[in-house]
Amino acid sequence: MKEKCIEAFKRVFNKSGDICCFAPGRVNLIGEHTDYNGGYVLPCAVTQGVVCVASKRNDRLFRLYSLNLERRGITEISLDSIKKTRSWADYPAGVINTFLRFGYKLDCGADILYYGNVPRGAGLSSSAAMETATAVILRVMFSLPIPDNLLAIIGQFAENHFVGVNCGIMDQFAVAMGKKDYAVLLNSKTLEYKYINIPTDKTDIIIVNSLVRRGLANSKYNERRRECEKAFAMLSAKTGASSLCDVTVEQFERYKDELHPKLLCRARHVIYENDRVLKAAQALKSNDIENFGILMNESHKSLKNDYEVSCAQLDFLADAAQKFPGVFGSRMTGAGFGGCTVNLVSKEKSDAFADYIKKEYFAAFKTEPHVYKTLPGDGAKVLFKF
Ligand code: GLA
Repeated sequence: MKEKCIEAFKRVFNKSGDICCFAPGRVNLIGEHTDYNGGYVLPCAVTQGVVCVASKRNDRLFRLYSLNLERRGITEISLDSIKKTRSWADYPAGVINTFLRFGYKLDCGADILYYGNVPRGAGLSSSAAMETATAVILRVMFSLPIPDNLLAIIGQFAENHFVGVNCGIMDQFAVAMGKKDYAVLLNSKTLEYKYINIPTDKTDIIIVNSLVRRGLANSKYNERRRECEKAFAMLSAKTGASSLCDVTVEQFERYKDELHPKLLCRARHVIYENDRVLKAAQALKSNDIENFGILMNESHKSLKNDYEVSCAQLDFLADAAQKFPGVFGSRMTGAGFGGCTVNLVSKEKSDAFADYIKKEYFAAFKTEPHVYKTLPGDGAKVLFKF
């Protein structure tokens, strides 16, 4: 990928690049829809991601080019007036804009070329990868003293306030802070985190892409956030909790019947899911993949029945996977309404599993899903300076 980017950069911009960076996608192992409720998440960065090559300019223009979307050509952004283009370029433009809003001085523009192999719209954070890659480029190019966790905050700010998606911090954090062979246990309220080893010698992480595009994802995502806020208003009045995930399972069971039935289901998902993340982290620490898998399966059930963010195709993929000997656990991953399942599979069974799931899904939906084997990988980094 690097070589292809370097060559393409020369072709598109008629000069050589100064710097080459990589930012990964992420897959969330467990802890879905907890990050905007002050809870825990357990994602890992993956080996797929976005490579970008960049070079400073001597004017105030940023010229952005995606090798995945060549027909869109170059998008020009002026440092003096950064406007939305309602295209892929809003992710990098949002980051450039956020650097300025956070008070960082960018004294010239740059040419940046992107090339990624994270499928777009599949819930694997291709957008967070692009945002974080841009942030790494700017940090190095302008010698800015920005720690990695602040890169994540910048990415999330760009997404919330420029792109206009009201996401939590999980994706950008996993992309910025990921570590080879480890999952990241993140407390989304305090941003404290711990790395937990994933036994990649005995398990593979297999991602199955249903190829269902997440059509209504944004509006439904915001609707869930509002429902959580309503449930929190009632539960915090009873318990004094500072966020929905701060409500314990016991407190929830005591007060749940005072909630509207729909809000009860939403809150039940969030509060029990948060509890599952902590149990899953413990299981992973003790190398108890069986138990980890059971918690993943429970997570899927809760996302399907209580949080209602799954869909027929994801349910089918999770059900079929859970029946396959050698699969420890399977669940939808990311915001939902389409996208992928994440499967923890014993190493010697993972090829057979990939064949099996393709056949089963094809028989049911007449579409062959995309199957990716991945590994927990490093977070965003500079690959080299020329
Ligand atoms: C999206 C958001 C994340 C998180 C997940 C659901 O990926 O970007 O912040 O809320 O959905 O867990």
